Amino acid sequence: MTTRHQPIRHQPSGAANIDIEAALAEVREQFVARNPESRKQHEAACAVMPGGNTRSVLFYAPFPLVIAEGRGCRVRDADGHDYVDFLGEYTAGLFGHSHPVIRAAIDRALDAGINLAGHNLLEAKLARAVCERFPSIDLVRFTNSGTEANLMAVATAVVATGRSKVLVFKGGYHGGLLSFGGGASRLNAPYDLVIGTYNDVAEAERLVAAHGPELAAVLVEPMLGSGGCIPGTAEFLGALRAGATRHGALLIFDEVMTSRLAPGGLQEALDIRPDLTTLGKYIGGGMSFGAFGGREDLMALYDPRRPDALQHAGTFNNNVLTMAAGHAGLTEIFTPAAVQALNQRGDDLRQQLNRLCRKHEACLEFTGIGSLMTAHFSSTPVRSPADAAAGDQRLKELFFFDMLDRGIYLARRAMMALSLEIGDAECAAMVDAVEDFLVSRRSLLASRGGSA
Ligand SMILES: Cc1ncc(COP(=O)(O)O)c(C=O)c1O
Repeated sequence: MTTRHQPIRHQPSGAANIDIEAALAEVREQFVARNPESRKQHEAACAVMPGGNTRSVLFYAPFPLVIAEGRGCRVRDADGHDYVDFLGEYTAGLFGHSHPVIRAAIDRALDAGINLAGHNLLEAKLARAVCERFPSIDLVRFTNSGTEANLMAVATAVVATGRSKVLVFKGGYHGGLLSFGGGASRLNAPYDLVIGTYNDVAEAERLVAAHGPELAAVLVEPMLGSGGCIPGTAEFLGALRAGATRHGALLIFDEVMTSRLAPGGLQEALDIRPDLTTLGKYIGGGMSFGAFGGREDLMALYDPRRPDALQHAGTFNNNVLTMAAGHAGLTEIFTPAAVQALNQRGDDLRQQLNRLCRKHEACLEFTGIGSLMTAHFSSTPVRSPADAAAGDQRLKELFFFDMLDRGIYLARRAMMALSLEIGDAECAAMVDAVEDFLVSRRSLLASRGGSA
């Protein structure tokens, strides 16, 4: 990708620091002026999609950037601005944009024909790679998204236990139909849900005991991903494991995001074995992907050789592009050594960023594990979704636009997911950009907590 424009460096202005609202008004105005083509594309899209959008997370005001192309760890927007991509497609872009090994695998699959209407030569290879990588997964089935994987896992638990209730947690996100950030979504699937507080051990134990005989499953992310990269504590997750076992419920770990954090997933690092695990994102090599798997006796319910087999359909469950890209990604690129190196890089970066925040006495903290992190504007430590929600969301918006100005692409909610293409130079650029932000916005960042 040739560089047509260097990222514009934001010039700290005294006027911008007068107050947050004034600073926000200024950055929004600059954003509009810089991005006429994105605006035009957005306005045209509004005629055919509600709000010009088919994926809610991508929208932000005044209008979202339209990304025209990506190479390696860089993306270019429709107006020709280049960014270092620290968003990594919300964790699905772990291999960067068009990794040659992935691309070659997809090309080979294309050469053999798309949509073969039969078992193909690739699906069992990817399944084997997944089962070998995640020891709690004896058997696996593929879906087309993480959402579908979680719906299937919960449905499996309901059928296997003959019970109806599912314990989930505020701040959790398991897909568009099982979403608990800022309260349960009105779109949620009609399961009999019990909603607890993430990382509240005593409450979790109480809820499991109170609903025990009716509890089919406990569904939890071992680290909240979209909820703010908030790690589950060992006590909390351990209590869920023990409670589920005690009461005959199934523990489902949603590792759609977190499976990249250790060679065997975050469950390996935590030394907790769930009954079922859901996967998604990068495991399809960047193609549409989801999977659920786990204990052999549970997954055997889907064995079509059984007369009473559960039916799990899905035209694209074994699509050759995903199977090929996923297998190449897991076996040739994201080896256990690569998992370790990527997450070490992420840990180092997060520690460096947090050191800077402390040096500048700013109300900013980067939470997360390894290659996943989120910036929170709070003067008290962020250890729960409630802590994250209490942070200053206006500063988060300011951070987002200021980072864009400095050529750093990240989620509007200030989440970052390092891809394998991010190297030392990109991490140094991120550190410089954050320090620049801390200096230029100093007067807005001093120990401020809670949205005004
Ligand atoms: C933890 C978690 N579970 C499930 C999902 C849903 O996956 P998908 O977007 O592939 O449906 C996501 C997506 O962000 C996720 O972060």
